[in-house]
Amino acid sequence: MDSIIELIGVDKIYTVGSVETQVLFDINLSFEKGSCTSIIGTSGSGKSTLMHIMGTLDTPTAGSVVIDGQKTDGLDGNALAVLRNQTIGFVFQFHYLLPEFSAMENVLIPSMIKNRKVDRQTLDRADKLFDMMGLSAVKHYLITKMSGGQQQRTAIARALINNPKILLADEPTGNLDSENSDRICSIFRNINQEFGTTFIVVTHDTRVAEHTDRVITIKDGKIESDINRI
Ligand SMILES: Nc1ncnc2c1ncn2[C@@H]1O[C@H](COP(=O)(O)OP(=O)(O)OP(=O)(O)O)[C@@H](O)[C@H]1O
Ligand SMILES: [Mg+2]
Repeated sequence: MDSIIELIGVDKIYTVGSVETQVLFDINLSFEKGSCTSIIGTSGSGKSTLMHIMGTLDTPTAGSVVIDGQKTDGLDGNALAVLRNQTIGFVFQFHYLLPEFSAMENVLIPSMIKNRKVDRQTLDRADKLFDMMGLSAVKHYLITKMSGGQQQRTAIARALINNPKILLADEPTGNLDSENSDRICSIFRNINQEFGTTFIVVTHDTRVAEHTDRVITIKDGKIESDINRI
């Protein structure tokens, strides 16, 4: 099958003052289109660093990242931003929704940035995403009037409005109770099946990992295990 993200010999070294710390060591990974993978590992093992590099938010010190057939080394900031906007949706542990806007407005913002207007098709997609998130009744609420779980589901809808090929999520259930966490997992599964979105989820939560088809464990910046569950 085709891979949508490939990491080849990725190293990451952070330099703080005169101190160099290597946090990723020769990472080689390939993710198939439409697959659903979790990345687990203890705090500080390098999961977020790896996710930022996969999402072109950060660059590797050595090695390369290929996204949807396009080699990213050497692309300038603008070209990377275009590739990112067209291909990848992000969900972070803290959702960064804009509190002075409604849930619907927050979800439409990435589409307004990409297309400079909101067309009927986008509004229909937003309605469908809110429906899938179980948020139809509250979609016009201000963010500040929503619960934590509702806010996190709104952030997922926002990440999906431009129909990205890839969704990268870093601890998407980090602040949620187990009921909300299970709900988000089943939403990911529905979206994966309905839109063929490739999911890569960084998590501490073994319940979330159990919902994915492949589980990669990172230890001290190296791949400790990579298990296909299907
Ligand atoms: N910008 C940075 N500058 C210097 N060191 C960093 C930077 N970002 C992360 N690190 C270091 O890299 C290592 C890996 O960090 P990372 O955030 O990738 O871990 P993580 O697995 O996501 O942890 P957590 O589960 O706590 O989120 C840590 O030792 C961290 O201190
Ligand atoms: Mg992290």
